[in-house]
Amino acid sequence: MSKLAISGGTKAVKDGTIKAWPPIDDIDREMVMASLNGGSHAFGPNCAAFQTEYAAWNGNKYAITTNSGTAALHMGLVACGVGAGDHVLVTAYSWSSSATCILHHNAIPIFVDIDFDTINMDVNKIEAAITPKTKAIIVVHLHGLMVDMDKVLAIAKKHNLKVIEDACQAHGALFHNRKAGTFGDCAAFSFNQNKCLCSGEGGMFVTNDEKIRDLAAQVWSFGETRTPLESRDYHAYALGWMYRNNDLTAAFGRAQLTKMDKYFKIQRENGALLNKRLTGLKGLILPYEPENHAHNWYNYTSRIDMDAIGWKGDPAAMRNAIMNALRAEGVPVGVWQSFILPDMTVFKAKNAYGKGCPWSCNGAGDGVVYDPTQYPAANRHCATHFGMTTPLRAPNGAETVEMVADGFQKVFGNIDQIDPDKILK
Ligand SMILES: Cc1ncc(COP(=O)(O)O)c(C=O)c1O
Repeated sequence: MSKLAISGGTKAVKDGTIKAWPPIDDIDREMVMASLNGGSHAFGPNCAAFQTEYAAWNGNKYAITTNSGTAALHMGLVACGVGAGDHVLVTAYSWSSSATCILHHNAIPIFVDIDFDTINMDVNKIEAAITPKTKAIIVVHLHGLMVDMDKVLAIAKKHNLKVIEDACQAHGALFHNRKAGTFGDCAAFSFNQNKCLCSGEGGMFVTNDEKIRDLAAQVWSFGETRTPLESRDYHAYALGWMYRNNDLTAAFGRAQLTKMDKYFKIQRENGALLNKRLTGLKGLILPYEPENHAHNWYNYTSRIDMDAIGWKGDPAAMRNAIMNALRAEGVPVGVWQSFILPDMTVFKAKNAYGKGCPWSCNGAGDGVVYDPTQYPAANRHCATHFGMTTPLRAPNGAETVEMVADGFQKVFGNIDQIDPDKILK
C-alpha cells in the first residue's frame, strides 16, 4: 500500500482532475443571453416555460417557479392548510429550513428520529409522534434517496394528514420507478449552486392538485390570486410573500433541465462504480440503496464504523482525522450538517416569532420538548458521517471515480496510521 499523502506520499487524485459543477455549455450561454437581451427581467417568459417544462419532466400537473426551495416548502405548508399552532412532523436530521419553514407559518415542528441505514425519517417512528394537533408530515428525501412513500402515504391516509415532500436534494430520484415529488400532496425542489439542477439559486413548487396550486400561488406572490402573467389587480386577497423567480435564473434552469436525464445517468453510473470499488473496506459504512429505490447520488454519504476500526475515543475526532487524510489524497469530502435539528438553537430555545409563539399560543406547544438526546440514530450519524458531491457529477466520469476510489482505499487500507491527536494538530 503506497504512503499516505498526509504523510508525504503521492496524492491519489491529481490536482485539476475533478471538474466543477455544473458544466456550462453553449445551451446555457445562449439561453441566458437571450433572456438578458429580452425585455422581461422579472417574472418573464422563461419563468412560464420553466414551470411547464419542469412539470412535464417530473410528472406533475402544476409547477410554480420560486426564488428558493425554502419558499416552495413554506408555500406547500400553507396550501395544505397548516396554520398557527398546528403540529407538523419532520425528520430530526436535515437542512435547517426543512423545519424552520414550519415556524414560518407559526406552526410547530415535531421531530422524528432517522433510520440510521437510509439517513431518512424512520417511518416506523412516525405514528408515535402524531398528536391530535398534527396536520402534516414533511418527508425529506435526504441526499437523493427517497423515503419509503408506501409507508408514509398509508400512515397519512390513516390519520388524515397532508404529505409535503422536501425533494430539494432529490431531483430524478425514484421510488418504484416514480420520481420524487409525485407522491405527496405537493413537493419542493431547490436549484441552488450545489443541487442536481443548478440555476444559481431558485426552486420549484409542484403539485397535481389545482386547489393546492392556487393557494400556493397566493403565498408566492403578495397574496394575489392571479399569476404575474395575467392582468393583475394588485389586491392582496390573503397573506402572501414575494417568492417569485426571475427570468435570467429561469433561463439558466431551463438550459440545465435539457441535460438532466444525461446528468442523472452519469451520477448513477459513477455511484455504482464507487460502490463497487469501496465495498468491503474495513471501517467504512457505505450509503445504502434499498430495493425499489434509485438514488440520485446528490451527496455520497458514508459513515465510519468506529467499532470495526477499534476506536474508543471521540467519534467526531476520528472522523475528522480520516477526512483530513482523504482531503490530502485529493478526495473532496466534507461534513454536511454537524447539528441535528432538535439541537439547533432556534428550536431548543423556542426562538421563533417571539413572545413564546407558536409554542405558547393557546397551549399549542404544551408537552413539546426539544431534547437532542432523544434522537440516537441522528446523533450517531451526525458524529460519524462525511459526504462528497462533485466527483460523482458530470462532467466527471469513471476515470475520476477510479482515482477517488484509490484515495479511499489508501486511507482505509492504512487506517492504523490515522491518529486524530497527530493529524488534527
Ligand atoms: C433538504 C433541503 N431542504 C431545503 C433546502 C432549502 O433550499 P433553498 O436553499 O433553495 O432554500 C435545502 C437546500 O439548501 C435542502 O438541502
